[in-house]
Amino acid sequence: MTVTIVGSQLGDEGKGGIVDVFGDPVDVVARYQGGDNAGHTVVHEGDEYKLSLVPSGAVRGKIGVLGNGCVVNPATLFEELDGLRERGLDPDVRVAERAHAILPYHRVLDGIEEDVKSDEDLAAGTTGRGIGPTYEDKAGRRGVRIGDLLDPEVLRDRLEYVVPQKRALLEDVYGIDVSDLDDPDAFDVDALFERYRTFGERLAEEDMTVNCGEFLAGRLDDGEEVMFEGAQGTSIDIDHGIYPYVTSSNPTAGGAAVGTGVSPGVVGQGEVIGIVKAYLSRVGTGPLPTELGSVDGQTPPDGGRPEEADLAEYIRDEGGEYGTVTGRPRRVGWLDVPMLRHAARANGFTGLAVNHLDVLAGLDEVKVGHAYELDGEELLTMPPTTEKWGDCEAVFRSFDGWPDVDWAAVADEGYDAIPENARAYLEYLEDELDAPVYAVGVGPGREETIVVESPF
Ligand code: IMP
Repeated sequence: MTVTIVGSQLGDEGKGGIVDVFGDPVDVVARYQGGDNAGHTVVHEGDEYKLSLVPSGAVRGKIGVLGNGCVVNPATLFEELDGLRERGLDPDVRVAERAHAILPYHRVLDGIEEDVKSDEDLAAGTTGRGIGPTYEDKAGRRGVRIGDLLDPEVLRDRLEYVVPQKRALLEDVYGIDVSDLDDPDAFDVDALFERYRTFGERLAEEDMTVNCGEFLAGRLDDGEEVMFEGAQGTSIDIDHGIYPYVTSSNPTAGGAAVGTGVSPGVVGQGEVIGIVKAYLSRVGTGPLPTELGSVDGQTPPDGGRPEEADLAEYIRDEGGEYGTVTGRPRRVGWLDVPMLRHAARANGFTGLAVNHLDVLAGLDEVKVGHAYELDGEELLTMPPTTEKWGDCEAVFRSFDGWPDVDWAAVADEGYDAIPENARAYLEYLEDELDAPVYAVGVGPGREETIVVESPF
């Protein structure tokens, strides 16, 4: 069977921990979208591994697959694999021949476009990994696929077509001279050909490429367990998220079929687990109706709740809501339940995993944005445009707080040991989203996740 793990909010919900907790019976972990924008930390046998592309299961001896819906930077892929091997692991990672390759010019153009957009407040705050420009080229039918790297003739043809266009964009549209770049080879056909042909040779030598759909179908036919590991979250999905502050792929469950080549029926017959952080956090600009406090440079001028700055700081500190690379404070807010209803509908959640319940412990009162008010009407789900979402006023519902307890002991004892008021919070979510809670995270470690029911 399959289990699909999907972020139900804005990313950073703690999906990796749940992949880990439910991962023991899994044979294959496949990513279906995104690329090396998905920073995740995996703790295995006491060692910590920081990855951005390789599926987390590959650290634990599972086969990791990067599906056709992914965009793959071969430089990052080999850097991560070499790093894991240097530390004594033997990761088995396969890459779909239909996946698109990120080239150096994609990264350069990602950075330039964000700079230009920031003058208009349109910057999505991208990770700068070239994700958007690579998906643009995929949709524009001028991309370079992983399979193309295996065939030097095809690779050269593709580069000869596309690179002059990229160069013209850089020079004629953005007015930047290639020779002024840190890596002028990023726009040079011969240099790119050599670099990417070599990547292709290594992919072939290590027998890493697969026809993804066929590969996974074969495994499923053999009775193996497959987990689809979503990256990012539903509200930054290109179709269902808060456009334009989104990533350029489909983290939603439909992406698991399109992005790997198994049928929607296969995904639908399995389980789809929505990962929920017990509050909201967000990196980047744009509206956030339940925001507490504000973060300079990210909260819109009339947004946030500056009067709740202390509460925001408390949640931010308890939850460690600071960028892993930049150390920048993340924006935080109360749980946005219309956002979750939207996610439950778009993904068809069959179960939930609620993380970071411990972060809210010790507060007298815990609120949720139960609904929105927009133009005198109450909305229970997200409006279709981000501008309307920005006009929504959150309608809050209040819960009695729960005490800070010995969460490790609670995790040891199980669900019934969770403080009563926190259980009321979880049960409210089950009712609103019409899906049972399968797991509850009460601390960062694997042993601090309470498994109520395993999807396998
Ligand atoms: P991109 O995916 O680098 O193009 O970035 C587009 C938007 O998605 C930005 O707002 C990023 O902050 C956000 N984003 C991308 N990956 C992640 C993630 O793994 N967690 C949270 N936000 C992300």
